[in-house]
Amino acid sequence: MGAKKITVVGGGHVGATTAQYCAMEELAEQIVLVDIIEDMPMGKALDLWESAPINGFDARTVGANDYDKSADSDIIVITSGLPRKPGMSRDDLREANVEIAQIVTEGVVKESPNAIIIMVANPLDVMTWVSWKVSGFPKNRVMGMAGILDSARFRSFIAEKLDVSAEDVQAMVLGGHGDSMVPLPSITTVGGIPLPQLMDAETIEALVERTRKGGGEIVGLLKTGSAFYAPAAAAAQMVKSIVRNKKRILPCAAYLDGEYGIEGTFVGVPCKLGTNGIEEIIEIDLTDEEMKALQHSADLVKEQLAMVSI
Ligand code: 2OP
Repeated sequence: MGAKKITVVGGGHVGATTAQYCAMEELAEQIVLVDIIEDMPMGKALDLWESAPINGFDARTVGANDYDKSADSDIIVITSGLPRKPGMSRDDLREANVEIAQIVTEGVVKESPNAIIIMVANPLDVMTWVSWKVSGFPKNRVMGMAGILDSARFRSFIAEKLDVSAEDVQAMVLGGHGDSMVPLPSITTVGGIPLPQLMDAETIEALVERTRKGGGEIVGLLKTGSAFYAPAAAAAQMVKSIVRNKKRILPCAAYLDGEYGIEGTFVGVPCKLGTNGIEEIIEIDLTDEEMKALQHSADLVKEQLAMVSI
């Protein structure tokens, strides 16, 4: 078993699926699902627990309508917030979700002052900043989930195109979680082979474009709500690297203090995740064009932050 307790705030599709993945991998002895909707998180947690004998896990899943049961969590995953509707950008959610992030962070931090926070709600980079500010936690203990999801979308599209195992495709998408995200085809590999040796530039560009719009593609298909299987899998992967101290190098929204020439904002960069949360921000060599794109993406996040008053 990994941690003692993981709390997932928000019992919607993303939150419940994150709890499910964490339970199935036995990432904690107890997994608490918190939501303000009366009885709903208890129902989902009970249903999940009743799947334990079939799926063979012993992580106890518990539901709650307030934060008491989340006390002394090692990790808090925050998924609460409104999802996008077709045609909306992630930034359109800013006002409503900032307030939710503030209230939730105050609630969880009071009960778990030593936890690591993983933000999942949108607009991701802004919400992560809000949670960091409100929590007063050091920067290694607050991070956002986006880069793993965006990279996974790129990886899955490449795998489909080349008809190869998705597992063998390695890729890294940096930057803010929005249209300005920065996929890095130059360091994308398939079974260790650089992508440009397997695919022409035009096809790569088409897949990059599909990746940028990947979240919107799902919103357009679902009509109500946004993606949840891949976002939840990405959040659970971050939890796993931390609770098992795997020290995986994964793209996460991290607070930058001069790395990549960026300061004072959260944005997606390669991070080493272990027991202490973000243990290192890895600065990889980027081309001038990639560096400019990353800095531009960070500037767009900062423009959003300037509109936040907390
Ligand atoms: C996505 O990209 C909801 O932002 C999330 O699907």
